[in-house]
Amino acid sequence: MTSQRILTGITPSGTPHLGNYAGAIRPAVEASQRSGVESFYFLSDYHALVKTDSPERVQQSTLKIAATWLAAGLRPERVWFYRQSDIPEITELAWLLTCVTGKGLLNRAHAYKAAVDKNIAESEEPDAGVTMGLFMYPVLMAADILMFNAHKVPVGRDQVQHLEMARDIAASFNYRYGEHFVLPEAAVDESVATLPGLDGRKMSKSYDNIIPLFAPWDTLKKLVFGIITDSKAPGEPKETEGSALFQLFQAFATPAETETMRTRFAEGIGWGEAKEALFGKLESVIAPMRVRYEELIAEPARIEQVLKSGAVALRAKYAIPFIARLREATGLRPLDLIPVSMDSQAKAKAQTKPQFKQYREADGLFYFKFVGGDGRLLLQSRSFASAREAGQSVASVRNGEDYEQWGELAPGTSDADIRQAIDALRAD
Ligand code: TRP
Repeated sequence: MTSQRILTGITPSGTPHLGNYAGAIRPAVEASQRSGVESFYFLSDYHALVKTDSPERVQQSTLKIAATWLAAGLRPERVWFYRQSDIPEITELAWLLTCVTGKGLLNRAHAYKAAVDKNIAESEEPDAGVTMGLFMYPVLMAADILMFNAHKVPVGRDQVQHLEMARDIAASFNYRYGEHFVLPEAAVDESVATLPGLDGRKMSKSYDNIIPLFAPWDTLKKLVFGIITDSKAPGEPKETEGSALFQLFQAFATPAETETMRTRFAEGIGWGEAKEALFGKLESVIAPMRVRYEELIAEPARIEQVLKSGAVALRAKYAIPFIARLREATGLRPLDLIPVSMDSQAKAKAQTKPQFKQYREADGLFYFKFVGGDGRLLLQSRSFASAREAGQSVASVRNGEDYEQWGELAPGTSDADIRQAIDALRAD
């Protein structure tokens, strides 16, 4: 098996808060320490331009968020850590994808539809104030993901539709030009904490209820003491259920500490005391990171260097060769290049039967893909030491033997899809 590629983007348009840390940064840093995965974390600064037109804010936020990830323990030597706008191939790919994306698909995007609905409700022109940046947002996001053929994309619920669009866009490119893209999958982790903010609603910039991750300790303390609670007096038993204070504590404490706090709630801990305990817990987790963060922020040139060198290496390894291959596939070719036989579009169109495609990777090993008549990937093989072994496994799948020993079903493919495709081949 080639390793799983996990990719996610963070839009630099604000200040990281406790919710971002517990919900995205901490789980991502932990995941990046596992072996067998290749992780891509990037600052989607092109996307930030859709959200804000303040240049200072984009720059400041990029610096703060990059420093936050590094302070939280991301090791740039173990993961790909970069800034979107340092990889010009992403915008180039966005154009190639734009040309295979139906306008109707983008019309259905939740964010665009919400903007239109709001305009209509306010008796405005439907597209008033809607930029093409907002409209094209899902295509740029697809380019981010497809550029590196990521398998899994950890995102919040609100981004799931964008992943579905990325898959659609990838499939329509593959259908026209041949099998270039893996269809990516959203990974929504339900166990990851969604933290409440100061007012008990989900912590979010748009509710103005955030606790910044790296606020100075006295500000942190003031904010914690401002968390809304009910009016139960000290000595009265308190509910943990629905208590923002308790949930915040739980997100940063060990399970044992959480149980102790639960007992103290039942025993009637005063809110002042509970806030003191939460502040102490937060400060103990955050203080060491805050020190690193302050050091990093003080040296923007160092962070710039980290991001730049990430991008240079990533372009050399993936983006530059891959965009060259895609340019070739779409016909953006040197004029003296002689196409092998049919051009790939004709090939893709001619193909109505499922196919096995055998190939050799840069790792020197042999692989095959089983591709449906519509061009969709059905089965991705594991690696084989020789072309002969790969060929024998193809024959075994063709004969209807257990394919699971040779590879993995593509996301969204069922056992029935495979059987149907095999039957279609046999009808030959
Ligand atoms: N749209 C994402 C967000 O607002 C950020 C993002 C941009 C992203 N490109 C991406 C996330 C690619 C995952 C993969 O949260």
